[in-house]
Amino acid sequence: NIGIAITGSGSALPTTSLHNQELTHLVETSDEWITTRTGIQQRRIASSQDSLCKLATAASQQAIAAAGITAADIDLILLATSTPDDLFGTACKVQGELGAIKAVAFDLTAACSGFVFGLVTAAQYIRTGVYQNVLLIGADILSRWVDWQDRRTCVLFGDGAGAVVLQANQSDRLLGFTLKSDGTQNHYLNLSYNGAAQQLTPEISVTQGTYQPITMNGKEVYRFAVQKVPEVIDKTLFAANLTVDQIDWLVLHQANQRILNAVAERLNIPAHKVISNVANYGNTSAASIPIALDEAVQQGKIKPNDIIAASGFGAGLTWGAAIFQW
Ligand code: ACO
Repeated sequence: NIGIAITGSGSALPTTSLHNQELTHLVETSDEWITTRTGIQQRRIASSQDSLCKLATAASQQAIAAAGITAADIDLILLATSTPDDLFGTACKVQGELGAIKAVAFDLTAACSGFVFGLVTAAQYIRTGVYQNVLLIGADILSRWVDWQDRRTCVLFGDGAGAVVLQANQSDRLLGFTLKSDGTQNHYLNLSYNGAAQQLTPEISVTQGTYQPITMNGKEVYRFAVQKVPEVIDKTLFAANLTVDQIDWLVLHQANQRILNAVAERLNIPAHKVISNVANYGNTSAASIPIALDEAVQQGKIKPNDIIAASGFGAGLTWGAAIFQW
């Protein structure tokens, strides 16, 4: 049996910070409201010089160096994103920038669950012996798709990228995973295309339009997250023959500090095991878990052999958990 290990991580964030106070000039809100409801104090915003490809490439270069391999060793590049520079996909552009000459590359979309879905996808290619070295990137520039006049959403999101290298390994460090989807609740969180019919010939019309800014039912998404995330982590632990006390770190999608607290509380995981950077970066969608992982590794919190429970949740609706040993 071929095992899987995460052997390197990296992250990249735009340099410009947008503080809560600055948002009060755009919408009717306050630093106090945003901080108490979400824990977010600032978020990074991509400039017109930035691109998803640039952020993803920078995070990837760090992850590849940390893994002690070169770009030419990579067999597969998965880019989890909902905000590609190009709807045809951005993974190939990243491949080109990295010089990952032998890698096949494609985008994967599962919103804020994208990193966990990508991790599990990468693991299947490794387990079956098809590929040995996989670069998984989570990157999003949601500031492109936020309605900056909608206070219910514009205060929540930020931009960034994180990446990990997964490699075939003798001992299997991916201890368990569960992925879930529920399309009946799709309407709670959307970044959807909207077009109008345009008559081409008397018989044929096409639809022409564009994607519309993010819409969200915050209450329903909150309810969904605090119920489903503990459930899916519990189920994954059980299937892996692990108990909750064996978890060293809880690395959740960084959507909201209240969600992180509520999930930890339901699982009986003490606050000191919960990785959080939501105050600094807001919700960076598919990027949030790999950024949080990378920061915790850089800070010396996550150490070799630590057991990590990661869980993503978001639009789709999608959610999932992966438990792995660092
Ligand atoms: N500033 C000030 N007031 C606001 C703001 C704001 N930015 N946003 C909403 N309000 C107002 C509302 O209009 C409402 O006023 P009303 O009572 O007069 O109508 C009041 O504050 C309360 O609004 P609620 O929506 O009930 O606030 P709630 O406590 O639910 O908090 C929040 C909202 C923070 C969005 C919460 O529901 C939440 O965190 N939900 C989860 C959202 C999330 O994490 N989404 C992303 C996950 S998936 C993904 O990452 C893509």
